[in-house]
Amino acid sequence: MQTKKNINNLNNIKSEFPVFERNNNSSKLCYLDSAASAQKPKCVIEKIKATYEKSYANVHRGIYDLSQVATEKYENSRKKVSEFINAKSEKEIVFTKGATEGLNLVASSLSKNLLKDDEIIISTLEHHSNIVPWQQACKYSGAKIVEAKPDNKGNITAENIAGLVSPRTKIVSLPHITNSIGSVLPIEEILNSIKNKSIITVIDGCQAAPHIKIDVKKINSDFYVFSGHKLYGPSGIGILYGKEDKLNHLDPYQTGGEMIDYVSIEKSTFSEIPHKFEAGTPNIVGAISLGYAIDFVNRIGMKNIKKHSIELTKYALNKLSEVEGIKILGNPEKRIGIISFLIEGCHPHDLAVLLDNRAIAVRAGHHCAQPAMRHFNADTSLRASIGIYNDVEDIDNLVYNLKDVCKYFK
Ligand code: ALA
Repeated sequence: MQTKKNINNLNNIKSEFPVFERNNNSSKLCYLDSAASAQKPKCVIEKIKATYEKSYANVHRGIYDLSQVATEKYENSRKKVSEFINAKSEKEIVFTKGATEGLNLVASSLSKNLLKDDEIIISTLEHHSNIVPWQQACKYSGAKIVEAKPDNKGNITAENIAGLVSPRTKIVSLPHITNSIGSVLPIEEILNSIKNKSIITVIDGCQAAPHIKIDVKKINSDFYVFSGHKLYGPSGIGILYGKEDKLNHLDPYQTGGEMIDYVSIEKSTFSEIPHKFEAGTPNIVGAISLGYAIDFVNRIGMKNIKKHSIELTKYALNKLSEVEGIKILGNPEKRIGIISFLIEGCHPHDLAVLLDNRAIAVRAGHHCAQPAMRHFNADTSLRASIGIYNDVEDIDNLVYNLKDVCKYFK
């Protein structure tokens, strides 16, 4: 069993996050919604300000010094991202406005090569952003979605996926860690089981990147997406990783300035990757600051972060099971960072409001994962999710107050 004393609280990292100085009705903020968005450390906030103050101009467009400085910082951040996920080169890193845009980019561009009755495998446990773009791709191509259903504990296995593959399977798109219940899919095993079948593979790594080391060479998917704001960086910036040959063969998603090589009124040629996918002025400071967020998590170390996330998740599971009438959604083999639950006789939204009155922030709703909720016979649930600043006191605080507010419903 996970006890308080063997959980590494990452050297009181909470003090580096200014938001925790906030008092609400004289209670300290207990933030348990990092799966929705993570709080920002002071070093990142300060560097965002400094970038606007000292290094801001448009990128790849000016020959004057300030633009060169901004461009260097922008491209240096791409290098940091590339190293962070162990990509082969910076060319494989596309800045997007978030994981949602990354998935839309891939689905929209791949849809042009899909034929009627081609098949796309996704799972029941997707975030809507890994469902709806594929539905749109099917609408225009006549392809079909094939649903990989988890078992009643929420596990999705390699056998499960391999069993759905047919000669018509063109794409498999899956989450690394699910945003609804925090289950960890055996992604490497799954992708290995289908590797000789010329299927394009896409992984939604939004909930994985903040908790575990992402090694795209080891994972070996064709595409991998994640967002900056869940990794302690700003919102409005995300990453699409794509294998060089796959990106080279993909049509641009958006067109306009910056992504072109030569333009005449009749036709245009495009830039090399990754710039081919970055039409228009990008989120310059967002991209640069994502690099600073990566410096921050690298300072703590992904190994330490993973250990902390695993231990605190186990502690929270144990502690939450003390609450009378609780039903924790799913019981997957591996779970990191996220726990969704219901409490008999208490509506999740009412509980969320009552907890908020005590400065405890959790998410209530369907978590942008309606099919996942239905799989567990729920419309909505409460979801507690952790970040590097959370500690056992946060979990104890949540559980103590949950028990207390549940009394109102008796
Ligand atoms: N994708 C975010 C979540 O799961 C917003 O809450």
